[in-house]
Parts: sequence; C-alpha cells; structure tokens
Amino acid sequence: MKRHRLVSLALIALASLISAHSNVDDFLAKYNRLGQQEYYDDSVASWSVAVNLDDKSLPEIAAKADANIAGWEQMMAAQAATQFGDLKSINDTSKKRQLKMIQRVGVKLNSADTIRLSTLLINMTNVYNKNRICPWSKVSRAPNCSVPHEHWWRSDPEMFDRISHSRDYDELAYVWTAWRNISALNKAYFQQYVEMSNKGARQGGFKDTGDYWRSLFESDDLKDMMDQKFQEVLPLYEELYTYIRRKLLAQYPGRFETSAIPAHILGNMWAQDWSDIGDFTAPFPNIATVDITEQMVTQGYTPLKMFQTADAFFQSLGLIKMNDEFWKNSMMVQPQNRSVVCHPSAWDFRNGQDFRIKMCTQVNMANLLIVHHEMGHIEYYMQYAKQPLSFREGANPGFHEAIGDTIALSVVTPQHLQEIGLLNSTSSYEQDINFLFKQALRKVAFLPSGYLIDLWRWSVFDGTYNSSTYNTGWWDLRTKYQGIVPPNNRPVDAFDAGSKYHVISGTPYIRYFFSHIAQFQFYKAMCKAANQTDALYKCDFFNSKEAGDLLSRMLQLGGSLPWPQAMQKITGQQNLDAGAMFEYFEPLQDWLRNENMKAGDCYGWGYTWPDAVMKNLNTPRCGLTLDQ
Ligand SMILES: *[C@@H]1O[C@H](CO)[C@@H](O)[C@H](O)[C@H]1NC(C)=O
Ligand SMILES: *[C@@H]1O[C@H](CO)[C@@H](O)[C@H](O)[C@H]1NC(C)=O
Ligand SMILES: *[C@@H]1O[C@H](CO)[C@@H](O)[C@H](O)[C@H]1NC(C)=O
Ligand SMILES: *[C@@H]1O[C@H](CO)[C@@H](O)[C@H](O)[C@H]1NC(C)=O
Ligand SMILES: *[C@@H]1O[C@H](CO)[C@@H](O)[C@H](O)[C@H]1NC(C)=O
Ligand SMILES: *[C@@H]1O[C@H](CO)[C@@H](O)[C@H](O)[C@H]1NC(C)=O
Ligand SMILES: *[C@@H]1O[C@H](CO)[C@@H](O)[C@H](O)[C@H]1NC(C)=O
Ligand SMILES: *[C@@H]1O[C@H](CO)[C@@H](O)[C@H](O)[C@H]1NC(C)=O
Ligand SMILES: *[C@@H]1O[C@H](CO)[C@@H](O)[C@H](O)[C@H]1NC(C)=O
Ligand SMILES: *[C@@H]1O[C@H](CO)[C@@H](O)[C@H](O)[C@H]1NC(C)=O
Ligand SMILES: [Zn+2]
Repeated sequence: MKRHRLVSLALIALASLISAHSNVDDFLAKYNRLGQQEYYDDSVASWSVAVNLDDKSLPEIAAKADANIAGWEQMMAAQAATQFGDLKSINDTSKKRQLKMIQRVGVKLNSADTIRLSTLLINMTNVYNKNRICPWSKVSRAPNCSVPHEHWWRSDPEMFDRISHSRDYDELAYVWTAWRNISALNKAYFQQYVEMSNKGARQGGFKDTGDYWRSLFESDDLKDMMDQKFQEVLPLYEELYTYIRRKLLAQYPGRFETSAIPAHILGNMWAQDWSDIGDFTAPFPNIATVDITEQMVTQGYTPLKMFQTADAFFQSLGLIKMNDEFWKNSMMVQPQNRSVVCHPSAWDFRNGQDFRIKMCTQVNMANLLIVHHEMGHIEYYMQYAKQPLSFREGANPGFHEAIGDTIALSVVTPQHLQEIGLLNSTSSYEQDINFLFKQALRKVAFLPSGYLIDLWRWSVFDGTYNSSTYNTGWWDLRTKYQGIVPPNNRPVDAFDAGSKYHVISGTPYIRYFFSHIAQFQFYKAMCKAANQTDALYKCDFFNSKEAGDLLSRMLQLGGSLPWPQAMQKITGQQNLDAGAMFEYFEPLQDWLRNENMKAGDCYGWGYTWPDAVMKNLNTPRCGLTLDQ
C-alpha cells in the first residue's frame, strides 16, 4: 500500500511536471488574450468618469468595472498559483517572471470592497475637481462672493493660475488657504481609503499599501536608496533655496522672517516647481527671458499644435509617432460645459492600439513641457506594446516618469527653441545662467517635495501617522525637507496633504523623485549617442536617430527585466546616479555659491541634520533652531 502510494504520488508529480511545462504557454497565451479585453473594458469605464464628472451614472459603472478586473486578476493569480506553485519547476526566466507578476495581486479585495475603494477615490476626485471659491477682488483686496457662481474659481485653471502669477501676498494666502479648506473635505474619505487599501494589501501578502507600492521597484533597499539620493542632492537644493529666500524677502519685505519660506509664495500650489517666480528672481534680469510663453501666444500656438510639436520631436529621433486613435480619442482641451479631471495623464488601454492623453492644455511653456512628459508615457506604451501583457510596464515606475522629461531637457535648450523659431538665442554666459536657473526652479526645487510625499504616505499606511496626526506629520516633513511653513496656523481638522492630486487619487509618488535624477542620466546617455560634445546642458539631440535607437532599445524592454538591467542598456551601468544632474547644473551651482557667499547669507532653515549629512553642507548655517 505504502509503496504503491508512493509510486503513484511520484507518477502524479511527474505528470504534473510535464503538464506544467506544456501548460505554461497555454496559460500565458490565455492570460494575454483575455487580459487585453479585460483591461480595455476597465480603462474605458475609468476614462468615461474622468472626462465626465457630471454624469452621476458613470461612477457606479466604473467601480463595477474595477471590481470586475480585480476579480479577474485574482482568479488568474490563483490559477497560476495552483498550476505552477512556487515556480521552481519553470526554467524559462521570462515565463517565470510573467507568472510571478501575475501572482502578485497587490491590493486584494472582494467585489464589494473593491467597489467601495473605487467609489472613495472617485468621491475624492469629485471634491478636488468640482468645488469652487469666491474670486479675489483686486478692488477690495478681499474675496468677492457676489460674482455669479459660474465665474467662481475652479482649482484648474483659476486657483493654480493665481498662485503662479499673483504677486499679492494676501491674495496668494487667500487662494492657498481656500484650496486647503476644500482639500479638508476629503479627509474622512481618505481615512476610509487608507483602511480599505491596507486591508487589500495585507490580503495580497504585503505589510501595508506602502510596502506594496515599494515592491514595484523590486529593490529591497528602496527606502535607503532614496534617502541616500536625497542627502546627495541636498547641497544643491540648499544653494538654490538660500538664493530664492533672499529674493523673496526683497519681494515681500517684512512679510516673513529669515527662516523657512511661507509655502504660498513660491509660484506653485504645492511649492514643488518654482519656475513661475523666475521673472523676479532671475540671475540676470536684463537678459532676454528664456520663457517662450509670449512667443507661443504671438505665433498662434494651440493645444493641438503643442501636441504636434512634441510628436514631431519624437519622430525626429526615429521613434514611433502618435497613431490615429491617439489623435481621435485624446482630450486636449478642457470642455466648456462639464467638469472633468484636469490633472494631466496618459492612458494605455492595453489593447495595443488605443493610447490617450487627457489634459486641460493651456498655451504656455509649462504646459508644452507637460505635453512632452505625457507623450513620453505614450511612447513607452507603444514601444513595449509587443511585450506580453504582464511586461507592459516601465522598468520601474520612475523610468516611466522620466521618458518625456528626458526629451524635454533637449527641447528646452535655447539651441532647440531657436531651431523651432520660438527664441532668438544670443548665446552668452548670462543667458546660460538664466537658462540653468529656470531649469533648477523646475528640477532642483522639486527634489525634496518629490521625496517627502511618499515618506508621508508610507508613514500613513504603516500607522506612524493617523488621522489625528496627518497634518502635523505632513508639516514636519514639509519643513524638515523643503524648508517651508504654512502661511497661517492650520486648523486641527486640516488635511493639507490632500491638496495634492496624487494623494487623493491614490497614485504613488516616489517615482517622480527617482525620475528627476534618472532623467539626467538618460539625457546624458542620449547626448553621447548623438555625439554632442559641448557642455551637457547645451545638448540638443533633435534629429539624432542614434539617440532615438538607444532610447527605444531600453523602452522596448518594458518590465521584462529588473530595472538595473534597463539602466545598463541605456547608460552602461546599473545605478541611479545623481552625477549627471550635478554635471548639468555645475555652472549654476558655482554661480549661486558665489552669490550666496557675496551676500554673506546663511544656509538651511534651522533644521539640524545628522552629522553625516551636515558635513556635506555649506556653512555658515542659519542660527535659528526649529522645533523638531
Ligand atoms: C457626459 O454626461 C452627459 C450627461 O449624462 C452626457 O450628456 C454626455 O454625453 C457625456 N459626455 C461624454 C463625453 O461622455
Ligand atoms: C530545468 O532545469 C533543470 C536543471 O537545469 C533540468 O534538470 C530540467 O530538465 C529542466 N526542465 C525543463 C523542463 O527544461
Ligand atoms: C460617495 O459620494 C456619494 C455622493 O456624495 C455618497 O452618497 C457615497 O456614500 C460616497 N461613497 C463613499 C464610499 O463614501
Ligand atoms: C463683486 O462682483 C460683483 C459682480 O461681478 C461686482 O459688481 C462688484 O463690483 C464686485 N465687487 C468688488 C469689490 O470687486
Ligand atoms: C477656511 O475655513 C475656515 C474654517 O475652518 C474659515 O475660518 C476660513 O475663513 C476659510 N478660509 C478661506 C480662505 O476660505
Ligand atoms: C457639451 O458640449 C459639447 C460640444 O461643445 C457637446 O457635444 C455636449 O453634448 C455638451 N454636453 C452637455 C452636457 O451639455
Ligand atoms: C527674432 O528677431 C526677429 C528680428 O528682430 C523678429 O522678427 C522675430 O519675431 C524674433 N523671434 C523671436 C522668436 O523672438
Ligand atoms: C494617533 O497617534 C497619536 C500619536 O501616536 C496618538 O496619541 C493618538 O491616540 C492616535 N489617535 C488615534 C485616533 O488613533
Ligand atoms: C559619432 O562619432 C562616432 C565616432 O567618432 C562615429 O562613428 C559616428 O558616425 C558618429 N555619429 C554621428 C551621428 O555623427
Ligand atoms: C550599483 O549597483 C550594483 C547592483 O545593482 C550594486 O551592487 C553596487 O553597489 C552599486 N554601486 C554603487 C556605486 O552604488
Ligand atoms: Zn507622468
């Protein structure tokens, strides 16, 4: 009996081993065939909501579609687990990796809970996009609520615009605060979202949602790696910060002390991109501006023309052009008569053909750069469309965010803007410094903010911050890393993190921090391929098929290999490395250092870093000590 049983067990094991191997191909073929349709249907439903927030019937349909795709993913994951177990019997590394990805569900919830989670996210989106505030009256220098409601300010574009362009300290404080009053309406939803999402992540085999999000990078040391990169770039940030603070003290005399900067005067709703205060802070104010907004308007640029300009650049590199479906289905302008999710995004409908951008495009330089950013996502989607479904991802989420930005680094060079008739470039040291300064306001200013958003969320998901400490935790990080403070005391029930779209839409953020470093590595590699030998910041690889080939060889990999190998493919080494970024900004860093020294200014905002960090920072330190 015993023996017989053993023999039959061995036979069964052998049979299942044999069938496992023939089954792998069948299983993956089935997964790819069915998955295309499943993901397509879900994308269609989500898209409908995003472009039509006023239709009350769509959220329910979209939430059901989410439950449907979640159910399907879980079913396929379970089948893969039953049929192939721990994957030890699978020798083919690609198939093994596909099965591993199929088995990783992430947030695993039953249908009712998935519907609830989706509805919470849609509800937060509604609050974010549909609420309006009374416009500010320049006459009374106060909000004017007698203005008809349809002219009240939306977040996008009016509030964001005012924060960028108003130079009235009080108006800025009003808009900044009013927007956060709206954000606070999402606090209860957010709290429920955190609980539900964590429940799913735990059921999916992770400690919490943050643990799951970090796993997408496949780097066990992600937290340490990010912290180390932050410490490396901090001296560059401090140099820019110290200079900007001096300019702001001059612009708003007597309005704040020489310590941390109030968050509402940096030209951006989240104080993360300072390029809109480039006008009164420029190193050489008398040199012609490198902001081409005026020229774009004069030359009659439209949103469509901005998209065509970006497409032409990708094509000049020999990359894939935007297809007919893209031009037919994308939403490029904000509709007049209905609410939409204006936050720009790029969509892969996963059927290999349907790719779309959704953006409330305005004719200005900042938006031209965003168009390139979003189109970089579409290019990546198209380049890896031939990969099996589970590999239709970036090498890691940070790679995905870096592609369009890499292209844009070439587009914004004065050399290129001259080539496409948007700038009369007079190459000079002063113009170069002004240009690099503007780039630093975009790229360097972003770094601490890009880093801390997920530091905060990881701490929310792991319970370090709870709903009573969301806001104090948020401001601890904002002050520690960015050196900014709120313009007024925050109410106890404030939810200022919710002012940021990615927080209320459940989109991970550390990818943007990764991207802001990696994009300079990609740019440098492509410049080298294009035989550009001048200073890095002058490189324009327009028309270079060699640069395009290098990029597309990496893009085509999708998620088929761990990211260090994709990094190797384009840069020849495997690490995230801030060296290229420092090389790019070197002339500016020297110039800023010199200016800050000449002014006898102090560095930092009173936060005392650990010794290992302090030793790389400039002295003298500002004498203030913050409450820590
Ligand atoms: C949006 O919803 C409205 C109201 O239900 C409907 O009339 C319109 O066709 C929808 N538009 C789109 C683009 O789905
Ligand atoms: C998988 O690899 C092992 C060890 O190299 C080998 O013994 C086995 O035959 C391989 N299985 C298949 C199905 O190729
Ligand atoms: C979403 O908002 C709707 C309308 O305000 C509300 O009825 C519903 O309860 C909310 N859903 C959740 C899950 O909070
Ligand atoms: C407030 O708005 C109303 C309606 O547009 C306008 O008539 C009035 O002059 C405004 N008041 C101030 C102080 O701007
Ligand atoms: C924000 O809300 C508070 C109440 O929590 C209110 O006192 C304040 O006036 C509001 N501020 C703005 C600018 O809407
Ligand atoms: C909004 O306007 C578009 C075209 O301008 C039209 O197709 C659509 O039906 C309108 N929607 C509503 C809800 O009025
Ligand atoms: C460049 O200069 C020429 C001649 O002054 C002028 O006609 C043209 O509009 C300028 N172009 C830009 C982009 O500033
Ligand atoms: C939140 O955390 C704080 C500090 O850890 C703790 O004192 C408080 O009781 C917690 N509040 C809730 C609602 O869990
Ligand atoms: C770049 O330089 C290399 C070596 O000098 C040469 O072989 C190649 O053709 C050049 N490529 C371009 C695009 O000029
Ligand atoms: C670069 O990455 C490799 C493998 O990912 C790692 O072993 C090595 O320590 C890294 N080197 C540096 C300088 O960080
Ligand atoms: Zn993006």
